[in-house]
Amino acid sequence: MPAIGYGTWLSKPGEVYAGTKKAIELGYRHIDEAWVYKNEAEVGKAIKEVIAEGTVAARADLWITSKLWQCHHRTELVREGCLDSMTQLGVEYLDLYLMHFPVAFVPGCDEAVSADQMDDVPIEDTWRAMEKLVDEGLVRHIGVSNFEIAELKRVQAVASKPIACNQFETHPYYQRRELFEYCQSHGIAVTAHSSMGGGANAMRKFHKSPPLTDDPVIGEIAAKHGTSPHVVLLAWGLRRPMAIIPKSVTPKRIQANKDEVLALQLDEDDLAKIAGLDKPGLDGCYCHPRTPWLGRSEFTGDTKHYYG
Ligand SMILES: NC(=O)c1ccc[n+]([C@@H]2O[C@H](COP(=O)([O-])OP(=O)(O)OC[C@H]3O[C@@H](n4cnc5c(N)ncnc54)[C@H](OP(=O)(O)O)[C@@H]3O)[C@@H](O)[C@H]2O)c1
Repeated sequence: MPAIGYGTWLSKPGEVYAGTKKAIELGYRHIDEAWVYKNEAEVGKAIKEVIAEGTVAARADLWITSKLWQCHHRTELVREGCLDSMTQLGVEYLDLYLMHFPVAFVPGCDEAVSADQMDDVPIEDTWRAMEKLVDEGLVRHIGVSNFEIAELKRVQAVASKPIACNQFETHPYYQRRELFEYCQSHGIAVTAHSSMGGGANAMRKFHKSPPLTDDPVIGEIAAKHGTSPHVVLLAWGLRRPMAIIPKSVTPKRIQANKDEVLALQLDEDDLAKIAGLDKPGLDGCYCHPRTPWLGRSEFTGDTKHYYG
């Protein structure tokens, strides 16, 4: 899997097509998608065009990840969810297909807002259905996203194919060392989402700490190397090592997020300072600290527990 991918979440209609094309023209070869982003068709249009125009020689030159949404967790719906993503993206196979969250919604529900919209599908059953996608040649690798160690262990206990990847939020304020090390020691590749602190995420407003990109330590390191805080945060991720999938629809940033990030050499002093920024818990985690539907027994149907 190429270590730098192009993130596509929250890209507005119209922007994600142009952004994806630009990213591939600038040398990105990994696209991070999901059924629930509702923009796979636009990304698929960009993929089709870059191949037709010769920017890349063939589909095989790209690594395309998509994710199974929670309304498709029932075993009889897993294949349907996957095929829908593949059709939208216009591809005959996916390089990586992830279970987006370890939680199921009832069929047809995009976002559960009440407990009765939660579905009782064990992640083990969904995983077994995902393994069949590999057997059928629809996907090359399968993995998970937003899984904690306990959930990884549940899947590992029944899996006949390796968990290729766990994609989760991690950045200097939310380093998740135990989870990271567990993945490393079990051969599970880590992809970081929200590497720049999830500033664009709607959940940002529930947190009291200032944006990670405004952190003075990160700013000082960026100034020392003559680059931006965003580039420092991404370079830290790569160095850890993890795959990173920055989202941007701005051509200059799309370029910086690859070229400047690859060029930046963080030194031991930088790494020690960044290691000291970890603040696990609600203050450090912007994206999914306890998404209402993550803990079924604590289901509130709203976001009030974000206030701590
Ligand atoms: N598995 C999951 O549950 C999950 C959850 C969240 C995200 N993801 C994936 O991870 C990807 C990245 O995460 P993310 O979208 O939350 O956030 P992100 O990549 O950390 O940040 C995106 C935001 O930062 C801005 N930005 C990007 N590069 C910049 C730069 N060099 N300088 C200044 N600003 C910059 C973007 O603005 P512009 O676009 O306006 O340039 C956008 O507002 C997503 O797109 C998605 O593919 C997965």
